[in-house]
Amino acid sequence: MNIQYLEEQKLFHLQGETSSYLLQIVNGVLVHQYWGAKLRESGGFQDLPNAPRDMNLDQIAQEYPQYGSGDFRQPAYQVKLEDGSRITEILYESHRIVPGKPKLEALPAVYAESDDEAMTLEITARDAYSGLGVTLLYTVFAGSDAIARSAKLTNGGAQKLHLLRALSASVDLSVPDYDMIYLAGAWAREAHLQRRPIGPGGTRIESRRGMSGHQVNPFLALASPGADEDHGQVYGFSFVYSGNFLAEAEVDPMKKVRVQIGLNPFDFDWILEPGDSFQTPEAILVYSGEGIGAMSRTYHKLYRTRLCRGEYRDQVRPILVNNWEATYFDFTAEKIVEIAKTGAELGIELFVLDDGWFGKRNDDTTSLGDWFENREKLPLGLADLGKRINDEGLKFGLWFEPEMVSPDSDLYRAHPDWILHVEGRRRTLARTQSVLDMSRQEVVDYLYGVLSGIFSTVPIGYVKWDMNRSLTEIGSAAAPAERQGEIAHRYMLGVYQLMERITAAFPHILFESCSSGGGRFDPGILHYMPQTWTSDDTDAVERLKIQFGTSLVYPASAMGAHVSAVPNHQVGRLTPLKMRGDVAMSGNFGYELDLTKFTEDEKEEVKRQVRQYKEIRSIIQQGDLYRLRSPFEGKETAWMFVSPDKTDAVVSYFKVLAEPFAPKQTLKLKGLNPELDYEIEGIGVFAGDRLMNMGFSFDALHGDYASAVFRLKAADVR
Ligand code: DGJ
Repeated sequence: MNIQYLEEQKLFHLQGETSSYLLQIVNGVLVHQYWGAKLRESGGFQDLPNAPRDMNLDQIAQEYPQYGSGDFRQPAYQVKLEDGSRITEILYESHRIVPGKPKLEALPAVYAESDDEAMTLEITARDAYSGLGVTLLYTVFAGSDAIARSAKLTNGGAQKLHLLRALSASVDLSVPDYDMIYLAGAWAREAHLQRRPIGPGGTRIESRRGMSGHQVNPFLALASPGADEDHGQVYGFSFVYSGNFLAEAEVDPMKKVRVQIGLNPFDFDWILEPGDSFQTPEAILVYSGEGIGAMSRTYHKLYRTRLCRGEYRDQVRPILVNNWEATYFDFTAEKIVEIAKTGAELGIELFVLDDGWFGKRNDDTTSLGDWFENREKLPLGLADLGKRINDEGLKFGLWFEPEMVSPDSDLYRAHPDWILHVEGRRRTLARTQSVLDMSRQEVVDYLYGVLSGIFSTVPIGYVKWDMNRSLTEIGSAAAPAERQGEIAHRYMLGVYQLMERITAAFPHILFESCSSGGGRFDPGILHYMPQTWTSDDTDAVERLKIQFGTSLVYPASAMGAHVSAVPNHQVGRLTPLKMRGDVAMSGNFGYELDLTKFTEDEKEEVKRQVRQYKEIRSIIQQGDLYRLRSPFEGKETAWMFVSPDKTDAVVSYFKVLAEPFAPKQTLKLKGLNPELDYEIEGIGVFAGDRLMNMGFSFDALHGDYASAVFRLKAADVR
């Protein structure tokens, strides 16, 4: 890792582990020169391609392009001046290169634990006419091919500015024939892998829901034609944010591709008074010269170790049982203790009481906001229930949906103006609930008081933080008319502030976020909560696609994955307990069913799964993922996890539909040490290079929905 400035050429050279990124100041313009395989530190940088003499901006590759002076592609930012004009021209003013990585105030971001882990370049450019200053931040990390980018826009003039667009990163690449890869879906079928060629014009993905959403994840990658898991060039763009976003690849007539990612300019209007600054969230750009798999592993490592925080960041996560699909709203304290007790007998470590424990909530129409226990269901209260669960040897976890309020609640009756709304307009309900106005400091403070009160009096070891609807009528009764365009982003800032305060005050609590499953599975939330409930769809077959897609960016330690009952509640499918266990064990493992209803044989299988997961979870949660077969391409899925020292591995193989007269299966493995020999439990000892080049074979699995998990241990180091 290094950032070098070559004075003579006015060229910045950012070096990652295997990659280089070059930008240059040409006549004051921040010009993009190169992003790809690593180049030598200096030398060979004369006659760079993007240094045209006529400065026709439309044909120049840039770092943070403006609008209005001849570049007709999408700009990276736009401001409106008091005279109504929207044109600016920023030119280089200064730069500095600093060790480490500065904090982004009030925003989630990746971090460096010490100054020798990262280096940051800050370049400031200014529009002389308005005084607007734009500071671009670029951080490179030791041993990584990730670059963190963000922008800070400062009003250094005397007039009020309206910020209409402020993206986090923009890069002009010469890759017009590349494919765009992204993750799309819906509730209960999140993160389905999409891949299609980009072409003239633009391809955009975005959210306008006030949340990152189930529909598209805030991520896109460009991959060279034919690039696969192990080969080809891939450029990844991931946005560390949980609200409205835009990501776009625009191919221009000169065959350059402008890739941009950041806050969605749609419905965004932020006022910058003289002296004010606006810090954008950050985007994490990753280069891989070795296919999609290497890009994923770069994201996994960075997000697992330098985005997530807290006591649980480096700890293996507890195996949980959650009562949602077991009881829904219909439970008593006795029933809960019975499930927890059975869980304890089977080796489970954490019980999670889901929705329905508070107010008078017996269905989803009431009581959000009334965070006091329902005495009909829990006559002795929450603290007593928590203690009884602890006495069974399990930690106690609790569900909340802090950002929401039901119209039928004491909170709403007391503060009807505390929801997002626009006076005179309807207050759209979804799941019979409204969204609290998290842009108001008093609302954030109120929620902090309520949550911290419960966390201080109930023996809570885990919190599931849910969020079950998109934002509508995004307006705040507390903000002036001219600032209503700020509310969607201010909502997220309020959520982040609350999450920051609560997680800092209760570091021993493991927080898992959720948004009707994966509606806010994004790097923003992961900064506060190291795991997310991946999807409300717990069907093992559906989960193959959801978990495979999610793994493009996010590590297995972040993915909640539970075994649920059959017929599956979302799709009605019957899959064997073995496959349900094997799929869930590829993430952050748990159960979401009534364990007391299991037969003795099923309980024995659960005990076996729990034992197995405890034995392999550090490899799954802290190891490297290699995807072997894609559920989007056939009836088989396979992936493997390898421990950082490469002495342990776990290979999971799934066959959705059986085939008649099927040949033996052969799996070629990845990521092993070619020099080591590995014992595959129950099969034999094989050389690492053989396993990766020839593979190993096993009899075709019998029956539909079949699965196998192979445990590998390096033979000669034990
Ligand atoms: C949506 C979540 O995704 C579910 O797991 C469950 O917690 C329900 N909300 C409860 O209302």
